[in-house]
Amino acid sequence: MEGLYENALNSIDIMSLSVIILAAGQGKRMCSLLPKVLHPLAGKPLVEHVVHSALQLAPEQVLVVYGHGGEAVPNALKALSVLCVEQAEQHGTGHAVSVAMPLVSTLGAVLILYGDVPLITTATLQRLLDAAGVNHMGLLTATLDDPRGYGRVVRDAHNNVVRIVEEKDATPQEREIKEINTGIMAVNADRLRTWLGRLKNDNAQGEYYLTDIVGFAVEDNVQITTVQPDSAAEVMGVNTKAQLAELERVYQRAQAERYMLQGVTIADPARFDLRGELSCGREVTIDVNVVLEGKVALGDRVRIGPNNYLRNVCIGDDVEILPNCVIEDAALENGCRVGPFARIRPQTKLAEGVHIGNFVEVKKSTVGARSKINHLSYVGDSTVGKEVNVGAGTITCNYDGANKHQTVIGDGAFIGSGTELVAPVEVGAGATIGAGSTITSNAPAQKLTLTRVKQQTLDGWQRPGKASDK
Ligand code: UD1
Ligand code: CA
Repeated sequence: MEGLYENALNSIDIMSLSVIILAAGQGKRMCSLLPKVLHPLAGKPLVEHVVHSALQLAPEQVLVVYGHGGEAVPNALKALSVLCVEQAEQHGTGHAVSVAMPLVSTLGAVLILYGDVPLITTATLQRLLDAAGVNHMGLLTATLDDPRGYGRVVRDAHNNVVRIVEEKDATPQEREIKEINTGIMAVNADRLRTWLGRLKNDNAQGEYYLTDIVGFAVEDNVQITTVQPDSAAEVMGVNTKAQLAELERVYQRAQAERYMLQGVTIADPARFDLRGELSCGREVTIDVNVVLEGKVALGDRVRIGPNNYLRNVCIGDDVEILPNCVIEDAALENGCRVGPFARIRPQTKLAEGVHIGNFVEVKKSTVGARSKINHLSYVGDSTVGKEVNVGAGTITCNYDGANKHQTVIGDGAFIGSGTELVAPVEVGAGATIGAGSTITSNAPAQKLTLTRVKQQTLDGWQRPGKASDK
């Protein structure tokens, strides 16, 4: 029996870490139906940023306390290795941690984070954990010129932390304190359990304050160490849409600086938006108002003009994207030139040196090397060979109202302007299609095919006059 117990104990790493992320609040001031922690920052829910920083600490477990918004929060975190715990009614931060405690399986430190404080870095958290050790308490605090709204850190004459006082419970002198509680703390699991049991809600808000455990630590002679974040933005919370926008800019600025350090030219880091993952080759230039989403890979010497939206694209070397294009789920090989005003839709592949010009839409198509579709065209469900010239205003009529059909254009074909290719249809290699044709059956290779009504001129014809002229 005793042996069994020892084995169980040995299987738990004494030093291992549990992280609890509080995310049950509604976020009234966001004025939104979406739970606050699911509002996106750089395209990713706030709480997901916190989860990622937590996971990089390699903890034994990450617990997320959710409440408002029901299953929306656990659903959003499905793909991540976290355990979600419901706090059906919110009775304060101490109560929220109590709800998660029965699931804490480790004996080391418990790190408490907030789902609406998204920019906290792994580096700062590691410093906090190192400072606290497994048996002591670590508090992340910050000194603010304007500490309004936060709990204040009360210290004694020897500068030792005595307790945290919430603003609503603070005396006027205590409100003068500029050192604030960020809420983020590291506490030994066993001690935390004991202290949570001692919490009372006899305060201004009638809540169980997690912060009251700081006073208990002092009573129990547990050493309290305070650590400050590397930058103030790391501990800024999101309560309003304005704060969300502010943190978005902080985040984007930091990303832009990282890429500029790697040699990427970013015309204006204030107008750079990466909502996903970007990899860049050498000598890449990104002009203003470029939004990059999902996975974007840019080769060497790629130039992205102003006002472009790129989502999940893989772009080769020496590609130029002229202004105002939308490119999604597409691959562009070396030397392509796209835009201005082009739309490249999902499952499109442009081979080397393809030119796609203004007001051209390409969908689910492969375009062969050095082919040109330069003006006002729609190419969908098509396989276009190499060195094909698609004239202005060419349309692949791929949809019959019920089904989509394929268009195949052979190498070196020349499609005259204003052509309609009624799919399924095939244009042979080297074929020429006369301008203005409506092609409904296959056009043979190397020949001129055209459908054209004979032009006529009516002598003596008069344009009707307006009724008012009579
Ligand atoms: C808390 C701290 C305060 C600190 C501030 C930092 C307490 C008592 N006070 O105050 O010292 O300066 O954070 O921002 O802890 N939550 C739950 N369940 C609950 C209550 C809250 O999950 O029952 C979550 C909220 O969703 C939020 C976080 O905990 O993400 C903080 O709660 P909030 O009510 O905003 O605490 P503050 O009053 O800001
Ligand atoms: Ca808050």
